[in-house]
Amino acid sequence: MKRISGFLSGLLAVGFMHVATVKAERAPPPRESNGLALTPPMGWNTWNKFGCAINETVIRQAADTMVSSGMKDAGYEYIVIDDCWQSGRDAKGQIVADPQRFPSGMKALGDYIHSRGLKFGIYSDAGKLTCGKRPGSLGHEYQDARTYASWGVDYLKYDWCSTYSQDAKSTYETMSDALRASGRPIVFSICEWGLSKPWLWGKGVGNMWRTTDDIYDHWEGRHGFEHSVMDILDLQVGLAGYAGPGHWNDPDMLEVGNGKMTFEEYKSHFSLWAVLAAPLMAGNDLATMTPETKAILTNKEVIAIDQDPLGVQASRVAKHGDYEVWVRPLKGGGRAVVLLNRSKASHPITVTWDDLHLPSSLSLKVRDLWTHKDLPEAKGSFSAEVPSHGVVMVRLD
Ligand code: GAL
Repeated sequence: MKRISGFLSGLLAVGFMHVATVKAERAPPPRESNGLALTPPMGWNTWNKFGCAINETVIRQAADTMVSSGMKDAGYEYIVIDDCWQSGRDAKGQIVADPQRFPSGMKALGDYIHSRGLKFGIYSDAGKLTCGKRPGSLGHEYQDARTYASWGVDYLKYDWCSTYSQDAKSTYETMSDALRASGRPIVFSICEWGLSKPWLWGKGVGNMWRTTDDIYDHWEGRHGFEHSVMDILDLQVGLAGYAGPGHWNDPDMLEVGNGKMTFEEYKSHFSLWAVLAAPLMAGNDLATMTPETKAILTNKEVIAIDQDPLGVQASRVAKHGDYEVWVRPLKGGGRAVVLLNRSKASHPITVTWDDLHLPSSLSLKVRDLWTHKDLPEAKGSFSAEVPSHGVVMVRLD
């Protein structure tokens, strides 16, 4: 009997150890953060406006205008060259920049960007080919990371075209490790379009991850794989808990100023991205932007919300048909509130202190972040008339 029970308990112990091992395998310790992007990265990226029509003049001009327009002063930092800068690989497998479009080479371009007090971002892809059919980094991850570091790259956007059956998490971990091994601090932007829910595994792997397929310059609806601003907004519901300092949900780059939306709609797009703690990557032609576009992109009070150090992403706390309330808790106890009107006519919208989980007896200061005016203190609720497709964005303290 003793022998049997000893045998049984031995079996149980082995079984337990097995379960424990399997468990341990399933839940590796969380990866350490690289310590970068403690607030959402801000910058400019070539793709939304220029697509593949890029060259070193376009990049230099963007760097110059970033400074002269006041965008740098407002907090924009990265100049990111998206797809189509590559032409091939040399005999040693080293990635080569298109010599026609980038005759001075990437190191010189990086130096130019740095000389303007800005940072240098570049793009690659986790598969064999980028979406623009240039060479991707598959099998060359460590070599490419070393090359980028030697060019002074500070930011890598890493796309997901031609990856077939590759596992997303381990693929992005490989490049994450390669960037760290390069010895240069490089912000890592995961661009996997939200397919494998990167918010579940991206923390510690990258500094941000796309939550959807590409944005297009449109207020509502969908166009093939492309999402409008309202469509993307709906896809952010439920993701707030995954963002924080060093690891952000990325609802894609800005379309502000690209011409297919109204001033009100662009204001809404920018305000919503700011409460969502989204990376603010301008995607327009900086050299020809109108004063209205510049006023939106450089609204420092709205940018301060995006960059709030607490790093909490807004949640939608109320939705009554086309009328919505988004709330972002701020450092120091304040709240940023966006009242959003999706309808075709102007309409009053109210946020109640109940929505904010605050006692209704409380009086709060109200600051309008677009008119830059203090409004009368509010008790129990705050209401405003909100234009069609527009927002009213306030800070409550
Ligand atoms: C897409 C990506 C875009 C842009 C483009 C370049 O996959 O989502 O933001 O980088 O590729 O080809």
